[in-house]
Parts: sequence; C-alpha cells; structure tokens
Amino acid sequence: MLMENATVVVSGTKIADEIGTGRSEVWRLVQQLRTLGVEIAGHPATGYQLKSAPDLLLPDMLAPALKGTIFGAEVHRNYHHYYKIGSTNVAAMESAGAGAPEGSIFVGEEQTAGRGRGAHQWESAPSAGIYCSVVLRPALPPSEALVLSLATGLAVHAAVQQIDSRVLPDLKWPNDLLIDGKKFCGILTEMNAEPTCVRYIVVGIGINVNQAKFPVALQPIATSLRLVSGTEWSRVELCAVLLKSLDREYRDLLEKPGAHESILRRFQERSSTARGQRVQVEENGGFEGVTEGLDPRGFLQVRTAEGLRTVLSGTVILK
Ligand code: BTN
Repeated sequence: MLMENATVVVSGTKIADEIGTGRSEVWRLVQQLRTLGVEIAGHPATGYQLKSAPDLLLPDMLAPALKGTIFGAEVHRNYHHYYKIGSTNVAAMESAGAGAPEGSIFVGEEQTAGRGRGAHQWESAPSAGIYCSVVLRPALPPSEALVLSLATGLAVHAAVQQIDSRVLPDLKWPNDLLIDGKKFCGILTEMNAEPTCVRYIVVGIGINVNQAKFPVALQPIATSLRLVSGTEWSRVELCAVLLKSLDREYRDLLEKPGAHESILRRFQERSSTARGQRVQVEENGGFEGVTEGLDPRGFLQVRTAEGLRTVLSGTVILK
C-alpha cells in the first residue's frame, strides 16, 4: 500500500482497514519493515509515508514486469522469496522434483551455501547480488541444455546492456560473464532427464550487482556491476529485465526455427575468447591450445598440437 502511495502520508487506520487488521498491528508491521531497512516516516498518530522503495526482490516488486512471461503465471504461488537460504538451486531442484511448475522462481536475498560449477561455492552476501533459480520443463532433448545455458548468458548480457549500455560484458564459455577480465556473473544449470527427454531443468543465475568489496581471495578474479560502473544498480530492475530477456530466449529456442543456431552465433559474437584465445583445459588430464569457436552442439573447440579437440565439461582457463 505504501508503495502504491509513495508520495503521500497514508493513515494507520486506512492501512488497517485495507488489510483487515488493527492500528497496533500496522505499527508492529511498520516496525518490522524498518528493521529490514525499509525507510518509513511517521507513526500511528500521523500516518505513514514510504521514503524510499526497498531494493528487495519481493514478488510484489517483480510481478508487474513478469506479466505475459512464463514467470508471470500465478506469480504469487510460484515466486519463492527467501531472506536467507542455503542455495536457491537446491530449493528449485527439490521443488521441481516434487512437481513445481515451469516458470517457478526461487530468489534469495542471501545464500549460506551458494553453489557454483564443479565443487565451487558462490559468494552470496546479503542483498548485494541477484541469486535466482528458475524451473523450466522444455520438451527438448538433454543435449539442448547446453544451448539453453548459453542462451541464459546472452539474456544476462542483454539485460546489463539494456540498463547501462556503457557496461560491456564478455561471455566466457560456457557460463561466465566477465568485465575487464573479472567475473561478475555465473550460471549453474542442473537437470533431471531421461536419455532422450528432459524432465526439468533448473537454471541458477548469480550476479554480483552492488558489492563494494570482495573477500581477499576473490579480489583478483571477481567484480560487481557497481564496481565497474561506479553507481548502485537497482536489483529489482535488473532482475525484471533479465527474466523478461530469458523468457524471450527460452520461447524462441522452443518455437523458432533457427533459434539454436542464432544462440551459438550471438554467443560467439559477444565472446572475445571463443576464438583465437590460448587456453588451458582441465579435462582428461588437461590440454592446451587455441580456441576455434563452438561446434554445432555448442561445445567449445580447441586447436591443440595433436589436432582439434572438443571441450565437453572441463574448466577453461584463459592464458
Ligand atoms: C559458477 O559460475 O560457478 C556458477 C555460479 C551460480 C551461482 C548461482 S546463485 C543462484 C543459484 N543458486 C546456487 O546455489 N547457485 C546458483
């Protein structure tokens, strides 16, 4: 209610009537919001006024933007927001296994056990980044999961550019987004599939948005949108633009002929390292070579002294 009347003072009685409670309960709720960092002026005698809209990824903040997307259907039932959670990917995989519908979203303000690819962790400080996992149920073979994951990188790229065209992310195969050589976004795609058919896919996206500082060990390799642009970003706006962009990529992949090829082409155009980059690949004992683009399935090709090799899952280190 306060957000719908952002510039005016709303009386405690009006709020109480509207939500079917008493003025003392309204006071209690206002106090609770204040402890969460929401700036509200006033008290029971004068009424309340919202001073600044909180940048929390609450369903009410995202719902208007998600109308008409796969994430917009029954948003209040399928959008799961947590102030603190172990890992949104774990929650999404469990819920998908229990039947959560396509388009379900799991968002954490903070993760205590954020997961990265391999055995890595994902640093997930409170309300600084976007930690979001979505459930998809595409009628696609499991081999298309890689392309979907590449498309998610394109969706993040497009969202960042739409909000600030001066920030130019660089895609690193398969799932990293870098700026000035430092990572600000990682994507963890997990799936449950039969040999020929996907049951469900969870796409987990971690974006460093407003971090002003990282733990010492991460400082040489991690950055945030705030650090590169010098300004705070609205996580709500970025998350909304990102989910709309992901919705478009996903629907195109399912419906449009040529979408698969378009994703591979655009990925290579937005990646400075998909071609002509010397790399070390940690796979099958490790090998070194120079990247030569993606094969038709989306795997990275590397020219080595022994010939052209395809990277299937290993970590790619830029040299
Ligand atoms: C990586 O680059 O290693 C992938 C990082 C993925 C992090 C995101 S944050 C939201 C979702 N929940 C998780 O536990 N991990 C992903």
